[in-house]
Amino acid sequence: MTKSTKYQDLIRNRISCRTYDSMPISLESIAKMEEKIAELNQEAKTEVRFAIVSSLSDDRNAKAKLGTYGVMSGAHTFIEAIQDIETGDPLELGYLFEKAVLFATELGLSTCWLGGTFNRGNFEKSLTLTNNETIPIVSPIGYAKDKRSLLDSTMRFGAGSNHRKPWNELFFENDSKTPLTKENAGKYEVALEMVRLGPSASNKQPWRLMKTGDDFHFFIQRNQGYGDMIRYDLQLNDLGIAKCHFELTLQESGIQGTWFTLDPQPKIEGWVYGCTYKCRV
Ligand SMILES: Cc1cc2nc3c(=O)[nH]c(=O)nc-3n(C[C@H](O)[C@H](O)[C@H](O)COP(=O)(O)O)c2cc1C
Repeated sequence: MTKSTKYQDLIRNRISCRTYDSMPISLESIAKMEEKIAELNQEAKTEVRFAIVSSLSDDRNAKAKLGTYGVMSGAHTFIEAIQDIETGDPLELGYLFEKAVLFATELGLSTCWLGGTFNRGNFEKSLTLTNNETIPIVSPIGYAKDKRSLLDSTMRFGAGSNHRKPWNELFFENDSKTPLTKENAGKYEVALEMVRLGPSASNKQPWRLMKTGDDFHFFIQRNQGYGDMIRYDLQLNDLGIAKCHFELTLQESGIQGTWFTLDPQPKIEGWVYGCTYKCRV
């Protein structure tokens, strides 16, 4: 029997879309998305939660203009990520939000992570938030138009969105200097490739993974000053996306594991440690 490659296919097919058809999403897909969001809200261990808002809704609050500075054309329905700024974890937010993005992809809906080019103030009016809550990330969901808007094409070109860094800049073995080859990655090769194909803020691809035996240590190589303007750690979201792709792809190939944090945390110059996945072999 051939193994399912559902997540591989979804990860390979997902692409940021900034040009939407104004057609409403089918009621069936919206209902499935709502169900998924409720499941992710249950799964969250820190103060992060998700909601769907639509400017097509009858709800007066949700009708608030959901502005994206003209970057998203035709978008009317969004997944919003809500985080308690003190007790919510951007790493977990990234991990769970990407699960929502992949689920939308499975339903044939296009998405685009937005951490910068949306009007946070307007989105924050679309829901009832507690004092400490903010909306750091949103994504439109909807049907892609056949032809990209000029701004969409310009943004893709500007971020180099069709390109990813090569393996030898992202994956290492035993230390931060020895690149992990595909041969040495063995049964982990596909899961690492799925990390590499993931989206990241401005396509900076800050994830660095180090393999020691069957443990994978996840780090960020930060771009200095990145995210300062919006005062939010988008690169921790990126690491959450890497976690999501790695875990889902491994599970699909029959490899289970557990997340934990090393104590004391490994210190590597230029890298910030995030978490470790211990694969059960
Ligand atoms: C955390 C995060 C924040 C992002 N913020 C924005 C944004 O504000 N505006 C935008 O147009 N794209 C944004 N993106 C999309 C990235 O530019 C895109 O994922 C990257 O260029 C790779 O392209 P791809 O998603 O088509 O593979 C963001 C992506 C991530 C993961």
